[in-house]
Amino acid sequence: MFDLLVKGGTLPDGTVADIGIAGDRIAAVGKLDAEAAKVIDAGGDLVSPPFVDPHFHMDATLSYGLPRVNASGTLLEGISLWGELREIATVEEMVERAVTYCDWAVSMGLLAIRTHVDTTPDHLRGVEAMLEVKRRVAPYLDLQLVAFPQDGLYRTKTGRQNVLRALDMGVDVVGGIPHFERTMEEGAESLRDLGRIAAERGLMWDVHCDETDDPMSRHVETMAREVTRHGLGGRAAGSHLTSMHSMDNYYVSKLLPLIAESGMTAIPNPLINITLQGRHDTYPKRRGLTRVKEMQAMGIPVGWGQDCVLDPWYSLGTADMLDVAFMGLHVAQMTHPAEMARCFTMVTETNAQIMGLTDYGLRPGCVASLVVLDAGTPTEALRLRPDRLAVVSKGKVVAERQRNDARVTLPGRPATARRRHG
Ligand code: FE2
Repeated sequence: MFDLLVKGGTLPDGTVADIGIAGDRIAAVGKLDAEAAKVIDAGGDLVSPPFVDPHFHMDATLSYGLPRVNASGTLLEGISLWGELREIATVEEMVERAVTYCDWAVSMGLLAIRTHVDTTPDHLRGVEAMLEVKRRVAPYLDLQLVAFPQDGLYRTKTGRQNVLRALDMGVDVVGGIPHFERTMEEGAESLRDLGRIAAERGLMWDVHCDETDDPMSRHVETMAREVTRHGLGGRAAGSHLTSMHSMDNYYVSKLLPLIAESGMTAIPNPLINITLQGRHDTYPKRRGLTRVKEMQAMGIPVGWGQDCVLDPWYSLGTADMLDVAFMGLHVAQMTHPAEMARCFTMVTETNAQIMGLTDYGLRPGCVASLVVLDAGTPTEALRLRPDRLAVVSKGKVVAERQRNDARVTLPGRPATARRRHG
């Protein structure tokens, strides 16, 4: 007798299985003839572990147009706009917007998010708000907070002090933004400083690193060195790494083994990188996405992050990690069947690995969180970005949706036009 039984789902590896859930854990996977208090008939639909987003800004989300839109579309105007908004936004407003965003995330099967929280203002209202959001959504969504000195660790008087204050308040992860410090030297020093803080406190470390088109922005080299020095390994992640797009190939041939040696992970954010990078170019315009396939070939874990939804940097977004993977697949030209399948794995298993989630997956003993999609395979899910028919979080059904088939009225044609194929 299970509390919940998901019947006949197709798992990402292609096997068809039932999933029996007891309490908040997966109790059994296979051909199950058992009773259950509630049954979800997956009927061959894809059943996946939940989507995971390892890079987001929840203190800024759903604020698009406040105090006005980003006219130039650049990263720098976005930072400047956010600098105004964070001074007028109240804790209550930020909590309300973030919790609303979490509703969207749950409906899309996105059940774990790492969000960077700006620690620049001395009032630390964003930190206060995100700690409250983390507490509120904890029953159904795992939220990880990063202490993020948006305006630089050393570029503001209290930048360093406020990162430490945020960590003392309960923020989980150490952040950083070396390319935004005043000089290359201060950027490198900020990494030595922050790496030491992460190591001494036993925390994870996630740095906005080299989010620029400048090929000489080589902070990831210093970061990898510090990750190796402190033995942080996979507890450290380099976010964006867009300068690597424009770096000299010979230099990259030395850099990638250093990153691999450190064991750190990488989080490109394709929707935002393709939108913000290359803005100073005429033609040809650089894409700005980091070297995803090349890093993966070196064994470096690479996930896809979302970064922004409806905020000063990005005017769109849906909380759908399949949109993120879809864009990444295109920009990184990951079109081989094995590469497309890997793009799905990147927004599920790899992102979970990057966030250090334990008991994640569809095996007995894992946390009973999953999503049923109106698709047959991971690749079809990427093609369709289909409805999430059911979302289960920690053993409870938290979202359900009717299958949405278009009705067509054409002479001599069937009445439905399902987009699933084969
Ligand atoms: Fe970011």
